[in-house]
Amino acid sequence: MTDLIAANDAIERALALLQAGEVVAIPTETVYGLAGDATNGAAVARIFEAKGRPRFNPLIAHVADMRMAERIGVFDALSRKLADAFWPGPLTLVVPLRPEFGIHPLVTAGLDTIALRMPKGFGGQLIARLGRPLAAPSANTSGKISSTSGQAVARDLGGRIPLVVDGGPTSVGLESTIVKVEDGRARLLRPGGIAAGEIEAVAGSALLRGVTAGIEAPGMLASHYAPGAQMRLNAESIEAGEALLGFGSKRAEGWLHARAYMNLSESGNLREAATNLFAHLQALDRSGADLIAVEPIPFDELGEAINDRLARAAAPRDNPRV
Ligand code: TXA
Ligand code: MG
Repeated sequence: MTDLIAANDAIERALALLQAGEVVAIPTETVYGLAGDATNGAAVARIFEAKGRPRFNPLIAHVADMRMAERIGVFDALSRKLADAFWPGPLTLVVPLRPEFGIHPLVTAGLDTIALRMPKGFGGQLIARLGRPLAAPSANTSGKISSTSGQAVARDLGGRIPLVVDGGPTSVGLESTIVKVEDGRARLLRPGGIAAGEIEAVAGSALLRGVTAGIEAPGMLASHYAPGAQMRLNAESIEAGEALLGFGSKRAEGWLHARAYMNLSESGNLREAATNLFAHLQALDRSGADLIAVEPIPFDELGEAINDRLARAAAPRDNPRV
């Protein structure tokens, strides 16, 4: 049985569950997170279990303030500068772990680094009250589309977790941008809710790109964020019966015959498109179409992260609907 409780009324219940080693789905400004006490191995194991997530994939630890962050990880000058500029907000920093803090090794998948983020709103208040960091991946079945509303979480994880805290639709709509500083240079591990250019403006130099050896970033599995339907990107035309995900004011040829149609942003605004992306994909998937065609989306600003998520959603996978 899963309760869906409005954020204003949920903090005491959420706190009690987390203190008991349970998991709770919470709103953040990016996507909903499935949160558990990052120092409690049983709680972290429950997160993986509820998501059906491969254990080698490490989690982000969410903190309430800089003091908590610096007790968990080691901040070089550039990481601190980025935290000052973007926290609380949709930036995750990978920094060396201070093992003595007591983050459970399941959180880091045994790595000697830790991904840290300070979320806005309900999550920040909850962590401050708990006094401990929360491990929280996106609140969705592993490999599926991330949830950007309480209802979407309940549809996906209902019955598997005790509580979904409903904070309404998330404002950013894409997961955080993940950055790691190496020898004084920042590397982009996952594009996300803060555009690369915004980070470069603060860092004062171009982000390094691509991933170095070992595990790394994000939904590094090629197929991730997958809807049940097949996907076709950069569609200039569509076939009858396909669903269409539009962007901007110019429609793909044949669009009047679409089984279902939604637009990420009529005015071509990438921030609005990011906010709508996952909810629109889920809605088009529910239309029952075998294929979702997606109109071209520019790669600048948040378009980089939007195209990254679409490419993963379109990647070949084991068990498509058709
Ligand atoms: O916006 C977000 O980032 C959301 C909200 C809930 O905060 N969280 C989220 O978590 O997207 P998740 O677990 O779905 O993605 C976190 C990614 C993982 O794919 C993982 O590979 C990467 O962060 N990661 C975690 N620890 C890392 C580390 N030490 N080094 C490199 N990458 C790491
Ligand atoms: Mg995820």
